[in-house]
Amino acid sequence: MPVRCVVGLQWGDEGKGKIVDLLARDADIITRFQGGANAGHTVMVGEETFVLHLIPSGILNAGKLCLISNGVVLDPTVFLEEVQHLTERGIDVEGRVFISERAHLVLPHHHALDRTRERAAKIPIGTTKRGIGPAYAEKASRTGIRAGEVRNPDRFASRLREVTESANQILTRVMNTEPLDVDQVVSAGVEAANQLKPFVKDTTSLMHDALDRGKRIFLEGAQGIQLDLDFGTYPFVTSSSASVLGVGPGTGLPPRCLNEVLGVAKAYTTRVGEGPFPTEIEGPEQDQLRQAGNEFGSTTGRPRRCGWFDVVAVRYGVRLMGVDAMAITKMDTLSGLESLKVAVAYETPDGKTTSFPCEVDDFRTLRPVYEELPGFEGDLSGTRDRSDLPAEAQGYLSFVEKQVGVPLRLISVGKERDQVILP
Ligand code: IMP
Repeated sequence: MPVRCVVGLQWGDEGKGKIVDLLARDADIITRFQGGANAGHTVMVGEETFVLHLIPSGILNAGKLCLISNGVVLDPTVFLEEVQHLTERGIDVEGRVFISERAHLVLPHHHALDRTRERAAKIPIGTTKRGIGPAYAEKASRTGIRAGEVRNPDRFASRLREVTESANQILTRVMNTEPLDVDQVVSAGVEAANQLKPFVKDTTSLMHDALDRGKRIFLEGAQGIQLDLDFGTYPFVTSSSASVLGVGPGTGLPPRCLNEVLGVAKAYTTRVGEGPFPTEIEGPEQDQLRQAGNEFGSTTGRPRRCGWFDVVAVRYGVRLMGVDAMAITKMDTLSGLESLKVAVAYETPDGKTTSFPCEVDDFRTLRPVYEELPGFEGDLSGTRDRSDLPAEAQGYLSFVEKQVGVPLRLISVGKERDQVILP
């Protein structure tokens, strides 16, 4: 399979980092195609934990080429810190990581606008405050700065001055808040731009040439379909196509290149930030699940909202993205719960439905229709064969697999790299 893609089937944080790290072994190139440093992909290698926000998790597999393609919005500071962090920990980055010259940069004024808008909003989105929305907005309004512009330091400096001054007008006149120190932003920006230069490339041609030579590309999605700008729970979404639908515009690879889509879902559901969440658990059981699964954001540290597995939401993503097979993560976290609920439909004022609503208001009146299955006990982390799982765990997985309607290919049963049931 020359081109494969891994995407999230829920509201992000499905554990894609670990799955990419595992499957990247079969690829030559691993590419991030959307989002930015709002993502936090955690991978455990032995005793070491790596949290990556921009560089694809595939970097932990020696010798692989890792690309940040044009659909990503790249924060130079975060990227350079990540390079330094990986280098210090003995991971070879040089000549292995490249940024598309077409990727837009996330700059200090994007952070300031994101923070200020969230603070001022009547109903905040609960963003990661990483400047993602303002950076994509500037890209769409055709005033953004692209990574390729770092090649010309004078022009870069004057463009950075221009956009920062323009944002200062909004910050002071509209948002009634402190302006940024333009000189300081420009001098730090130019320094970062110089360090960024060797990483900037035409990643699209690089991928096309690699495919011509028979190389394999693995596309690493960030966030999940429910946070997708078009198909997620708008406006409580991120500002990119957080799905397979973002691959074409985010890479420059034509849609027919894509050979396989693997969807990743957690064995239950989590969401960070505001917005609809039909299967959110009420009361102390939510806290129990949060503690058991250590459900705290890897980018912001915020406690994640926890709920039951939602077949309606996952099947919606599977259909939209043409998912071929599914990976279920964190199955071990469900151990010890007496019974497990799975939402198979929604009850609405107009009757029962298995369709995922479009309007936020529609979520207020719906109630999930649950099937209740027996829970299981024991430590699953040593299990490497699906048939060795407790019978109730097998029953749960088979139920989910049948309801979602795509084959279950991988089951993650622990944090470590090898704690997984492979086909
Ligand atoms: P933004 O992407 O920072 O603008 O945040 C928009 C929404 O997406 C918020 O609800 C965030 O919590 C959520 N979000 C963004 N990135 C991630 C992620 O990687 N995992 C989970 N939620 C995310």
